Amino acid sequence: MNLRYNGSKCSGLYNCTIQRVSYYILFNQSKINQNMKILIACEESQTVCKEFRKLGHEAYSCDLQDQSGGFPEWHIKDDAIKVLNSQKWDLVIAHPPCTRMANSGVMWLEKRNLWDDLDKAISFFNEFVKYGKLGNKIAIENPIPHKYAVEKIGKYNQVIQPYMFGHLERKATCLWLFGLESLKETKNVFKEMSSLPKSEQQRIHYCPPGPNRAKIRSKTFEGIAEAMANQWGIEYCSCSFVMIMRDNKQRAVCSECKKLVQE
Ligand SMILES: C[S@@+](CC[C@H](N)C(=O)[O-])C[C@H]1O[C@@H](n2cnc3c(N)ncnc32)[C@H](O)[C@@H]1O
Repeated sequence: MNLRYNGSKCSGLYNCTIQRVSYYILFNQSKINQNMKILIACEESQTVCKEFRKLGHEAYSCDLQDQSGGFPEWHIKDDAIKVLNSQKWDLVIAHPPCTRMANSGVMWLEKRNLWDDLDKAISFFNEFVKYGKLGNKIAIENPIPHKYAVEKIGKYNQVIQPYMFGHLERKATCLWLFGLESLKETKNVFKEMSSLPKSEQQRIHYCPPGPNRAKIRSKTFEGIAEAMANQWGIEYCSCSFVMIMRDNKQRAVCSECKKLVQE
């Protein structure tokens, strides 16, 4: 057991023995990861769903399409808004369709008169915004929207890039966050990525036409999914003084609140 005292004051465990500390950890193991019920709306790849499952949460992907992630038992094939409002979720991550709202496609609105489609996409997106404004925890993810969309859905809170999470690629992704902290980068590989040819850095943008193009382009990056699970799926210790202990996975745990400590 790796025991490290990390503060000038710690109420309660001054005279503990290593054996007592082990007992505390074992006894409170379940408190480290409180089981959450999580909906990943508009996700067929199950990339985010699987990361939350790894932490022991009851996570479900939901999409009108069949899942392609290999876990049909974790997939709800239905309308995401119906499922969103069907029960209480502890956390929701939503990836609503972005084709009509993305800034990269703004020129088609006028050229192809797609304003009705845009209105439908905005109404759908705003169901998730409404859910967040009611005090629920939700992250909504979409590419950079054009100004006509921003007027109706509101400004995003954060822009992230795959290279901030270990992927040698760029693709600006916006997050609208309700009750959640901004996502912290986990492994910034910007420098390495910058030395690659443009076609590799922007693999998604240069993705050749084909039947699976839309699916490939919209799949969430694994590094981002992992960060979402590790940062939004774990309640970390916020005690001012902590005595750090190691659990059986060598993670730092606060001896007082029994929650994980961010190192
Ligand atoms: C931009 S893609 C997001 C894909 C996601 N990032 C993934 O990794 O699977 C949008 C997804 O929303 C789904 N979708 C569209 N309308 C929906 C609805 N009413 N209910 C549930 N899913 C819907 C589409 O089938 C598509 O898979």
